[in-house]
Amino acid sequence: MSDRGGHIGVFDSGVGGLSVLKALRAELPHEDFIYAADSGHAPYGERDVAHVVARTRTVCGYLAGRNVKALVIACNTATAAAIHLLRAEHPGLPIIGVEPALKPAVALSKTGRIGIMATRSTLSSAKFQALLDAQAGQADFVVQPCDGLADAIERSAGTGDATKTIAYCAQYTAAMGLFGNNTGEIDTLVLGCTHYPFAETQLRALLGPDVQIMETGAAVARQTRRQLAGKLREDPAPGQVQLLSTGQPLALQTAANRWLGLAVSAEALSF
Ligand code: SIN
Repeated sequence: MSDRGGHIGVFDSGVGGLSVLKALRAELPHEDFIYAADSGHAPYGERDVAHVVARTRTVCGYLAGRNVKALVIACNTATAAAIHLLRAEHPGLPIIGVEPALKPAVALSKTGRIGIMATRSTLSSAKFQALLDAQAGQADFVVQPCDGLADAIERSAGTGDATKTIAYCAQYTAAMGLFGNNTGEIDTLVLGCTHYPFAETQLRALLGPDVQIMETGAAVARQTRRQLAGKLREDPAPGQVQLLSTGQPLALQTAANRWLGLAVSAEALSF
């Protein structure tokens, strides 16, 4: 990819951040993106924090070295564990993270009962606790760790087989008291992992039409636009995307094609 005024780096543990890349491309269609998936070391959500921090610093350090003009951490688990370190290590580089959309969910919920699905690591982080504390008294939150779900989605990216994803969605929505027409009064479900929007069809089939499902991609894309004010490309040509993976490039390429309609070859990252 030629240098056309700086790329925006997007990082995730795997293919989930493609849900954020989709929103970024819709918001910033003339920007060039480098998407790096750490699929060779995923999933992050049930790993110890030291692993998540080390891998996030390695891959984001690589992206920063590619002279990106902003870095989007499109992974809730990595944001919670490492964004403060990344900001300290790369001063001057706008670094935008993701977090579960609790505040918007509170504003939208009519019953005041809100479900949150996320990885175990995100839910046990101080960052998530602070987010929850900030909304204390505003709503009842039903918090559900979803072991295995991100991994099932990651694996389905290459194969297209959603059997495990469906089973986990059924298990976790049932655990929250969310099934069929009996919604247990939860009327809003926050997806606190960027992989989960790729299970939205399966979740919607389980929940019916009335539960509002909230993801963060569009808000992150707007935030990225604000952070890059004055640095956005003026060239009206469509932006380009480069895909990199520490795992199987073909799985990332297939996911990007399946979910975003991108016809781009993915390349291997060997660290
Ligand atoms: C995972 O790798 O377990 C998913 C991480 C996340 O997006 O929170």
